[in-house]
Amino acid sequence: ARTRYFNFTVQTTNVTRLCYTKALLTVNGQFPGPTSYVREGDRVVVNVTNLSSYDLTIHWHGVRQLLSCWADGPAFITQCPIKTNQSYVHRFRIVDQRGTLFWHAHQSWLRATIHGAFIILKKNKVGYPFEKPREELPPLIIGEWWNANTEDIIAQALVQGGGYNISDAITINGQPGDLYNCSSDGTVVYNVSQGDTILLRLINAGMNFHFFFAIANHNLTVVEADAEYTEPYQTDVVVLAPGQTTNVLLTANNSVGRYYMAVSVFSPPNITLVPYPNVSATAILAYDNVSAASSTPALPSFPAANDTSYVNNFFSSLRGQNYSRGFYYYKVPQKVDIDLLHTVGYSLQPCPSGQTCQGPNGTLIRSSISNITFVTPQLSILQAYYGNGNGNNSVYTTDFPDVPIFEYNYTGINLANKVALPGTRVRVIPFNSTVQVVYQDTATLFFESHPIHLHGQNFYIVGMGTGTFNASRDTPSFNLVNPVSRNTVSVPYGGWAAVRFQAVNPGVWFVHCHFDIHSSWGMDMAFITLNGIGANQSLPAPPLDLPSCVS
Ligand code: C2O
Ligand code: CU
Repeated sequence: ARTRYFNFTVQTTNVTRLCYTKALLTVNGQFPGPTSYVREGDRVVVNVTNLSSYDLTIHWHGVRQLLSCWADGPAFITQCPIKTNQSYVHRFRIVDQRGTLFWHAHQSWLRATIHGAFIILKKNKVGYPFEKPREELPPLIIGEWWNANTEDIIAQALVQGGGYNISDAITINGQPGDLYNCSSDGTVVYNVSQGDTILLRLINAGMNFHFFFAIANHNLTVVEADAEYTEPYQTDVVVLAPGQTTNVLLTANNSVGRYYMAVSVFSPPNITLVPYPNVSATAILAYDNVSAASSTPALPSFPAANDTSYVNNFFSSLRGQNYSRGFYYYKVPQKVDIDLLHTVGYSLQPCPSGQTCQGPNGTLIRSSISNITFVTPQLSILQAYYGNGNGNNSVYTTDFPDVPIFEYNYTGINLANKVALPGTRVRVIPFNSTVQVVYQDTATLFFESHPIHLHGQNFYIVGMGTGTFNASRDTPSFNLVNPVSRNTVSVPYGGWAAVRFQAVNPGVWFVHCHFDIHSSWGMDMAFITLNGIGANQSLPAPPLDLPSCVS
């Protein structure tokens, strides 16, 4: 193990896409930002300097942050923002984890442009639980491009609720690709050698959509999801929810040529406003020695944009891998100490006077979990909880409900489901408890497939289904043997997902929808895992330079 040092300077950089040039917030002038390579067991030191005019934080999405919750990064949850011309040094260790993750800004919508790959290499002496790839391609990050300033868009969405400006292009490594105006010069090209088996790392850094990914005339084998190995799973089309990462093996076993690697937007039936073409972004897979002038690459084919059964089947087909080989430091919880039902959906509030709101009947659209619309506190919950910096723990309450406060109709579109209370509520969890959360989609306005993300640890996805969860009917069919372990679960459209984890990482752990608009509207909560006994169960004191909210 060694220590890896990185310098991240957040700055403004002019970037041109789709014939528009705009001043973009970047890290080190790169869009997407730099890829960080570290190895399992390493210490990581990242000096983040903020030269932008926005307050911001950086989050290491999916990094377990064992006993280093201070370094996690969500604004007002574990730290206060890094202000203009200030810096903060994140220090953490990579414990018992390897695979593909990413980092991103964690304040407002800044992650739209401030993100990059975070790759944890496996230990050298440990093999892969699958055929060793001959080579590895640079990570492939799927994102979105707006011609407008994304901070203006989110500001409008917060004031008006309702419809929000959707992106002008889907991108691969920041590039829309050949099929868009003014874009072919920048199209990303991946070179491969015929016959090789190659590891490709996929990241969904998009703000608002699940994506389908495929390569024309090539099969893919999923071998890892959210930095945990899976049983190899063969497919033509991979699905990634926002916040999810997936490694695939690709064998270059076709004739020498050029093939499109492409992304398509998944947009479930009730959302008809999405104008993207079926093929929404492209890059090129080019075999060695192929002549650049060879004919137009073939396009892969995709499920229909509203094919929820393809998506449900893909996610429920993934299985965890190697439970017996020491890759996991705790097991799938067989018994549950804390049993939670969290509903996810929209809520509607009266339009504040003097504003124009775009929700039904002129209401203001918000989101909620179990009827609580999260209110971002003015001081960070972690600093408040540990009495550090401000010594003020009045910024949150510990009464997040274990079941929804109000009765919901889970299966029908029902405006009566709109009620929610604003609050900064957390659920406190004793150290080492086993926790089950059933996330139930509700149909306040319409169903959605919410990507719910947990900080600080992965959870096991033990069950999924459509319709309303029924404990006595559904619990017996949970997979407690080899469920996939992820940091983000895509709650099935109009259905539910059940996850379990063991609370062995003390700290304040944010949970939120990774559709950024939903998170901004209040689809968030936090768990506080209490300290256990002894040094390896207790969160150490925060670094003295952790940004404070008091200027
Ligand atoms: Cu990708 Cu709360 O984060
Ligand atoms: Cu959501």
